[in-house]
Amino acid sequence: MITLRDISKKIGARTLFEDVTITFNSGCRYGLTGPNGAGKSTLFNIILGIDEPSSGSVTLPRKVGFLKQNIAQFSEMKVIDVVITGNKRLAEALSERDALYELEITDAIGIRLGELEEIIAEEDGYSAESDAEVFLNGIGIPPEWHHKKMHSLPSDRQFRVLLCQALFGSPEALLLDEPTNHLDLESIGWLERFLHNYNGVLIVVSHDRHFLNAVTTQIADLDYETIIIYPGTRASQVQSRLREIERLEPQELKKSNIQRPYIRFYPPEKVSGQTVFKVKDISKSYDETLVFNLLNFEVSRGDKIGLIGNNGKGKTTLIKLLAGILPLDSGFIEVGHQVQIGYFPQNHSEVIDKKSNMTAFDWLKNRREGVNDQDIRSILGKMLFSGDDAFKSIAHLSGGETARLILGGIMLCNYNVLLLDEPNNHLDLEAVSALSWALEDFKGTVIVASHDRDLLNNATNKIIAFETAKPCVFEGNLEGYLAARATK
Ligand SMILES: Nc1ncnc2c1ncn2[C@@H]1O[C@H](COP(=O)(O)OP(=O)(O)OP(=O)(O)O)[C@@H](O)[C@H]1O
Ligand SMILES: [Mg+2]
Repeated sequence: MITLRDISKKIGARTLFEDVTITFNSGCRYGLTGPNGAGKSTLFNIILGIDEPSSGSVTLPRKVGFLKQNIAQFSEMKVIDVVITGNKRLAEALSERDALYELEITDAIGIRLGELEEIIAEEDGYSAESDAEVFLNGIGIPPEWHHKKMHSLPSDRQFRVLLCQALFGSPEALLLDEPTNHLDLESIGWLERFLHNYNGVLIVVSHDRHFLNAVTTQIADLDYETIIIYPGTRASQVQSRLREIERLEPQELKKSNIQRPYIRFYPPEKVSGQTVFKVKDISKSYDETLVFNLLNFEVSRGDKIGLIGNNGKGKTTLIKLLAGILPLDSGFIEVGHQVQIGYFPQNHSEVIDKKSNMTAFDWLKNRREGVNDQDIRSILGKMLFSGDDAFKSIAHLSGGETARLILGGIMLCNYNVLLLDEPNNHLDLEAVSALSWALEDFKGTVIVASHDRDLLNNATNKIIAFETAKPCVFEGNLEGYLAARATK
């Protein structure tokens, strides 16, 4: 059970939530929903004691599993050890034991070693490695990676290791902040089955309706400066929320955070050549893993190409090769006349350094030489950073706010080719639909990797599926591709 009593959180002049009192019960699976920037991640940090509430208190069980977002923190550790540190009590006992064995054994050390062995046994320390391996295999990290250093894995795989870390050690409560962002459909299925059998308290933040429907028994919606719990899933929740809002007196109702950004990729200043990319016999591998072997295809001006397929099959690799930020092993990519590329990375930290103190305004201004402040303010307003929010430090931006700022940077530069790697991760429903419209409307060329069915159906006219050994271009959107595949 997790209980919040009269929890309020104010940041500067802004109230995220006020006097929230709720209990999250064992055996229930809560979806924590709400618009970008409403305060979901902040609430998690408060529950975990990482952040302080302005007032109120929290009680929680002894063992809480938490999905961390920061892969950099673990880069020098071995994959299997990262998972095992998910059981803090065990990990501490193991490292203290190893340190003591380095010393000369005195009586006192002998006694301490006995105590530590007891803790290790209680925490199933002797099967820790094999338990961790079961999680890693389940989520698609093959055995040959288990003893590698974290940094030698692609970043989406590193996020999966952190998910295993959260699940490890039988936590009584699990807090997962957008766990599906770095998962493909296969791994999402694995996670859904795992969470179904989990009988502690689960609270999971997600913007993914399919996932929420599949996993949660209750929705805790954070908006209007409060949290309202509904039975059931997001679809029926919209109805219940409307009823709840009708029931409340107007003066009781605080302002909603729901807002739709205005995303529009303006007509390019220069039109690219008819051929945008000519990909000729390219091959690429990482260590012993072969990603592409002699791949060929062409991209023409105006193509809107959706990249689909499981993680690890090469979507991000292809985008990075096209963007010119990763070297080829062999073959070549001919970039067309006057092609100007706007790139949206799957891992936001590639373009936004969260350790910097820069403001959103300055970050955007640095994206384009000679741009005037008025244009910056105009794009920030469209991306929902109005007034003082323009001067928020990028270190504090929520996941969705960060994604909006990167999109704003692309809007500012009038590129004619967009390479977007899972741009809808972190975005709320309103922002995803705004993005989908913007891509549909855009006059240039788009290559977008995504798992979002609506976006792929509405905004693309070609599909490259990374499902077979030789991916090739399919003419049509996702629906068309799936229908064609079914009749094969
Ligand atoms: N230290 C801080 N100073 C100023 N503003 C902050 C600070 N920390 C968080 N915020 C702001 O508080 C709001 C809530 O952030 P939070 O990360 O909790 O949102 P969220 O609901 O998780 O959003 P998302 O769906 O985008 O992940 C955001 O507008 C964020 O910019
Ligand atoms: Mg968040």
